Amino acid sequence: MYQKIKDNILYAGLNDKDRVIFDELIPLDNGTSYNSYIVIGSEKTAVIDTMYPKFTKEYLNSFDENGITKVDYIIANHGEQDHSGSIPALLEKFPSATVVTNAVCAKNIQEMLLVPAEKIKIITNGEELSLGDKTLKFMISPGVHWPDTMFTYIKEDNVICTCDFLGAHYIFDDVFAVPSKDLEKSAKKYFAEIMMPFSTVCRKYVQQIRDLKVDMVLPSHGPVHKNPDYILDLYADWAGEKGKNLVLLPYVSMYHSTEEMIDYLAKKLEEKGIPSVKYDMVEGNLGDLAMALVDGTTIVLGTSMVLAGPHPAAFNTVYLASVLRPKAKIASFIGSYGWGGDLFGKMADMLTPLKLDVIEPILVKGKAKAEDYLKIDNMAQIIYEKHKTLGLL
Ligand code: FEO
Repeated sequence: MYQKIKDNILYAGLNDKDRVIFDELIPLDNGTSYNSYIVIGSEKTAVIDTMYPKFTKEYLNSFDENGITKVDYIIANHGEQDHSGSIPALLEKFPSATVVTNAVCAKNIQEMLLVPAEKIKIITNGEELSLGDKTLKFMISPGVHWPDTMFTYIKEDNVICTCDFLGAHYIFDDVFAVPSKDLEKSAKKYFAEIMMPFSTVCRKYVQQIRDLKVDMVLPSHGPVHKNPDYILDLYADWAGEKGKNLVLLPYVSMYHSTEEMIDYLAKKLEEKGIPSVKYDMVEGNLGDLAMALVDGTTIVLGTSMVLAGPHPAAFNTVYLASVLRPKAKIASFIGSYGWGGDLFGKMADMLTPLKLDVIEPILVKGKAKAEDYLKIDNMAQIIYEKHKTLGLL
């Protein structure tokens, strides 16, 4: 699909409507797009990011269909193959082209895609490349979300190609973003899975791009933003250090004993003005959990005991939370067992790197009794006081 972005800047990407999961991890509500951009200068033509290998043939054909007969430079903003995977084929089609990228990405595409070193020009931060009447300026921006990432700023047009950063798994007929709840949700899930572990650098790059006062943001997934503040404001919020007045309640419950306690805690929290999100760790959509992790300040995980330990779904959630590095500050566990074992110890260990304030867990045999509900009342009160101390209430 080709579409004019600005004079002599073309969108040359594709929608992948049928993709239902990305990285075999987060389910997609709206497929995704792989965005490639063609910048035609008065002397040279550059392609910024290429294509997911599954669509290489269609991608290459589109150059012929749209009369692009010359490519001088292939700019690799990132080495992951949904953007770099078609570089070898594009080099075959345009053998005189040079791949332009930073040293870290150059190593990646040599090792992962066997791009020959002699075909690569390595640039440094701030270096410029003239296409004649257009100039590309490279901003090496590691950590969003690989060590090899960079942005390409097209100076005369005042637009920036940010690759994965500021992207969304989203498809469209018109490449320009129309703000909507659906787009925001897709961008937030994408942020949660890909960018949240790198929130500190996200905040830095949001500010850098704001300072540039660009006219447009051109990511390599999802729509182009003619109003950059729309996506920059969302990222500033999601990557912020402070969570919201929100408790996450992921749970798995074999005989509903644990679920009854989670429901009771949710009711007690609601009475104190604290919203919660209940999440079924077996049946739920992992994307919903990831999104909730962007906002939540407290996580109380409920699990049944299975074979003397937590249910595997609980381990999965705790592992995900530990690697996504959410902004949560407080955690606890609620659980029910039949005959014994260690329900919480290993999960608490896995969360150690997050340096959470852990409230005394509640463990009951079978169904909760009156004294257990009193403990849950107490847990709700502790959460209330901690949220108040954090200025969330
Ligand atoms: Fe869209 Fe990190 O690749």
